[in-house]
Order: sequence, then structure tokens, then C-alpha cells
Amino acid sequence: MCGIVGFTGARSAAPILLKGLSRLEYRGYDSAGIAVLDSGVIDVEKVSGRIARLCEKTKDGAAVPGVIGIGHTRWATHGAPTDLNAHPHLSNDGRFAIVHNGIIENYLSLREELIADGYVFQSETDTETVVHLLEMYYDGDVLTAVRKTAARLEGSYALGILCTDAPDTLWVVREKSPLILGLGVGENFFASDVTALVSHTKNVIYLEDGEIAAITPQRAIVYDCTGREIRKDVSRVSWDVEAAEKGGYEHFMLKEIMEQPAAVRAALAPRIHDGQIRLDDFELTTEELRGINKIIITACGSAYYAGCSGRYGIERLCRIPVEVELASELRYADPMVDEHTLVLVISQSGETADTIAALKECRSRGAKILGIVNVVGSTIAKLADHTLYTWAGPEIAVATTKGFTTQLAVLYLFAVYASEKLGYIDDGRRAALIHELMELPKRIQQAIDMNFYQLPGLAKRYSSQSLFFIGRNTDYAVALEGALKMKEISYLHAESYAAGELKHGTIALIDEGQPVIAVCCNEAVCDKTLSNIVEVKARGAKVLALAFRDNRKIVSQADDVLFIPRIETVFTAALAVVPLQLLAYYAAKEKGCDIDKPKNLAKSVTVE
Ligand code: AGP
Repeated sequence: MCGIVGFTGARSAAPILLKGLSRLEYRGYDSAGIAVLDSGVIDVEKVSGRIARLCEKTKDGAAVPGVIGIGHTRWATHGAPTDLNAHPHLSNDGRFAIVHNGIIENYLSLREELIADGYVFQSETDTETVVHLLEMYYDGDVLTAVRKTAARLEGSYALGILCTDAPDTLWVVREKSPLILGLGVGENFFASDVTALVSHTKNVIYLEDGEIAAITPQRAIVYDCTGREIRKDVSRVSWDVEAAEKGGYEHFMLKEIMEQPAAVRAALAPRIHDGQIRLDDFELTTEELRGINKIIITACGSAYYAGCSGRYGIERLCRIPVEVELASELRYADPMVDEHTLVLVISQSGETADTIAALKECRSRGAKILGIVNVVGSTIAKLADHTLYTWAGPEIAVATTKGFTTQLAVLYLFAVYASEKLGYIDDGRRAALIHELMELPKRIQQAIDMNFYQLPGLAKRYSSQSLFFIGRNTDYAVALEGALKMKEISYLHAESYAAGELKHGTIALIDEGQPVIAVCCNEAVCDKTLSNIVEVKARGAKVLALAFRDNRKIVSQADDVLFIPRIETVFTAALAVVPLQLLAYYAAKEKGCDIDKPKNLAKSVTVE
């Protein structure tokens, strides 16, 4: 839940570190710091609050000379977000400085041991134990000290280390937290995410668990945990720096909403050839598919809601029972999973701790794992037996938008692919479904255009301390995601309800003026939801409905209506969610919220 970055070269390090941190700020943003080594001394500058404060304090880095350094942006776990708890942390002898992303689970016993040995702690963090261990194990050889330290740590970590005795070398080590090396010309980098590297280089090395690297301006040497040098492939990042910039939009979230037609096209188009779906490395024989008697979809947050939505399509088209499980629950549920279960693990970041744990739990019971992941080279992508990338490009706003719709696009592809293999659809139906899929990007654009100008006004009209989002079947999945978007960025309490459940208790909360957002796009259940609209209106609710553009009935019942173009029923969620993303965006904007970095949140949730 933190971002780390490092630079070694001939340029001034501090401005490069600050720029890198600002690109990683989405990972955590309650405090930040840098450590730069110059003339044998490590200067540490750190502040509570945003990176802008650190830039101010260091005069955009100009006040911190030196050509090698490390930086950190924090989402506090152990210890409040204060200046003292901010990273980097220094060893007592001032020889080592470290930054850390992850959690040291055995830090309490290590801390007691180190205090007994005379080490003095400045902070309440788990991380500080690591820097004192480095000092304790150092006898002139940094690699050995790093190996011995790593061997004592339990939990997850990506560590960046600076040592005064190695004035041009950065040391890094990774275990269950992302860490990427960036290879420049006469300069090298490390970071938690490629977004901090692409403005300098597109050549990267993805480190694996247990690997250590020594990075000088000329080269990066990677070692395994025994200290043996190993060869690593260099990968090329496929997108440009502009993809990680706002490009004229006021917020990343708005930019990413607008990018959805292109992102969904990028997820679909390369997998459809001559009217047939090809799923990269996940080509299954009919026999293999027939051997699957259950599908489990597991994920967290919005990715879970993508799973809730995808489930309807898979069950309807493939007739395989699908269970959708929150990863944070599944891992403790003693799941009924075996070698006949296919587990779809969905994650934008590929680093969500609970999702990783659920994946491992299912795999240990023999299930085959298919990852649906956006971030290339992420932990889930590596752990899964097969991975279908969503190809959404970098998603910076904490609230996911294009990450979500591209997950849906991949789930739809999977459903149609498996349905055909299993013989549930004939050539004509397959062609019709693929045609509708390929229309999705265009229709998402229409869904934006049709509603764009009225959304700021509607967001104002329907903003309230409490909102209800209702829908049935596929529309219920959309309601769940719509309510989450509203909560996380506007801080308005939004409750999503299966429309038919209202009368079993919750309708008691409907009073005069209560806003209800009714998703009414699934024609099989639309009339039923219409009855629920009538029920809440009879109790004074004010209803904003979301429906296909030729739905006349809805106009006579709802107070206001958002329209989307018509699409095949199982694919509606990818269209219907878009106006709700914009509704949340404008509600948050009206309230003056920090839309891209909502309070208490971080983009990648690497704590359990
Ligand atoms: C979505 O807007 C949230 N920020 C959050 O629910 C997110 O979807 C969840 O944390 C899962 O993240 P992942 O897709 O990276 O695993």
C-alpha cells in the first residue's frame, strides 16, 4: 500500500525521486520522504501529508544534493502518519537508509530483540526493525547483510536500501510486494510500479519473490536468495508516458472514464479473429471444459462486482454453476474446490493481498486458476496457471473505472468462448454475440455522450447523505458497483439493494425525498423493477432510473432517466455502469472531494 522508488546515475537524484513518487502517490498518500547520499552522508527529508509538501520542503529537490537516492510514499499501517513514522528510516550508525512497501509480520519480536541488543527506535513502524537488522548483520558486505536480514523477515516486503559504504549502489529485495528495475543509459532505477519509470526508460526487469538486486548506474545484478547471480529477461513496457498523465482532464478518474471505449476495444479486438474468439494462452479443449463442474470467481471490491456481473453471462451461456466469492471470505471458508473447479481470480492491480491468499487456498486444493489481471507481471499474473490481461493501460485514480469495464469485457469473451466450445450456441448465435461484443466500445461512447451534459445537474439533484441503488439480476451487479463508486469518492452513504428485497425490511427507510437510483436495463426483469420504482415513489422517493433509450414505460414512472443504447442483455453492465461512474464523479466534484485520492484509501490493497 506504499510506493517506493530509487535512482542512481549522474543526474540530481532528488527531483527524479519526487517525480517518481508523484506518479506512485495513488498507492498511498499520507506521508512521504526521500533519502539522498552525498559526500558519504545520507540526508533524509520526510513529511506527513502529500508529496506536494515534500516538494515544498526540499524546493522541488534542489535543496537535497546527490546523485543516488531512495523515496517513499506511505499508506500507514503501523504507526500514525507522522513525520517520524514516514520513511526512509535510518540505522543508528547512519550507514543505512531504507524504504519499504509491505508489512513485517514478526516485527514485534524483532523489535524486542533489537532493543535488548541496544538499538534505539525512532518510530512505531514495522519497517524500522529492518534497518537495524541490516546494521546488525553488516560486516563490510551489503549483499550478505541483505540476505541475512531477509532471512529473518516474515510478511511482505519490497525494500530499497542505501548504504554509505556503497556510494553508487542501490540494493533492493522483494518478497510478495511488487518491485521493478528500470534500465536507463548510464543510470538505473527501481520502483513499485512501471508508471514511475516510463518517463525515463521502457526497459524493465520484474523481480520475483526472494530476489535481491544491486543497482549501479552501469548495471543491475540480480541474485537469488542464496546470493547466486542469476540472469533475468528484460521486458519492454508497451505504453507511453502520456498514458499515465492527465492529458488535459481535471482528474485521472474522468480521463479513465473517457478512455473506456478504447480500453474495452483493446481488451476485445486482439482476441477476435475471423469471427472466432482466441484466448491467448487459455485455449481449452471441449473435453477439458466438460471436466469443469463448477466455476468460482473470487476478487475484492469492484473486481468482485465485475465477477457478480460476469456470473450471469457465464451461467446463462455455459450452463456451468458459478459461485462469486469475496476473496477475503473465501480464504477462510474451507472452500469446496477440487481439480474439477476453475477459479477465475480478478484483480486490476494483481497485488491485492486477500485475492492472492484466496488464489493460493484454491490452488492448494487442486483447482485450475485463470487470472484476469490488468498490471503486467503482477503477483496474481505470475501465480495463476493462465492469465488473461485486461489491457486497460495504467489506471491511476483510486476508484476503478476502465479497470472494471475491461474485466467485464474479458469475462464476456470467456463466456462466449466456453459456450461455443460446450455446444450451447450455434454459429449464428455466436456470430450475433461477437457482433454485439465488438459494438461495445462504440456503445460505451454513446452511453457517455447521451448523458454527459445532464449528469452534473443530476448529481447535484440526487446528492444526499444517503442514497439507494436498486436493480435485479445483471442490473443488481451494476447497482452494487454504482453504489461503491458513489461511496468511495463522494463519501455519501450509498446502499445497493436487490430491488425485490426492499419490501423485506429496507423499504422502511424510504421517506419523502429519499433518492433512489434504479437500474432497469435488463428487460427480463425490467417490469418487476418498475413495480419497485412505483412502490418507493408511493413512499415519497425521488427516482433516477437508468434504462435502454427506447424504454418508454420508465419515463412515465421515474422522476429522471439516464439512457443507454441497446445491447445484448448479458453485456449490459459494461454500458450501464458508465453513467453511474459519471454520476459519482460529479457528486464528488460538487462536494469538492479529492476525487483521485479519496480519504483512507489506496489503489492497491496489499494488507489483509
Ligand atoms: C474500486 O474502485 C476500489 N478502489 C477497490 O474496490 C478495488 O476494486 C479493490 O481493492 C480490488 O482491487 P484489485 O482489482 O486491484 O484487486
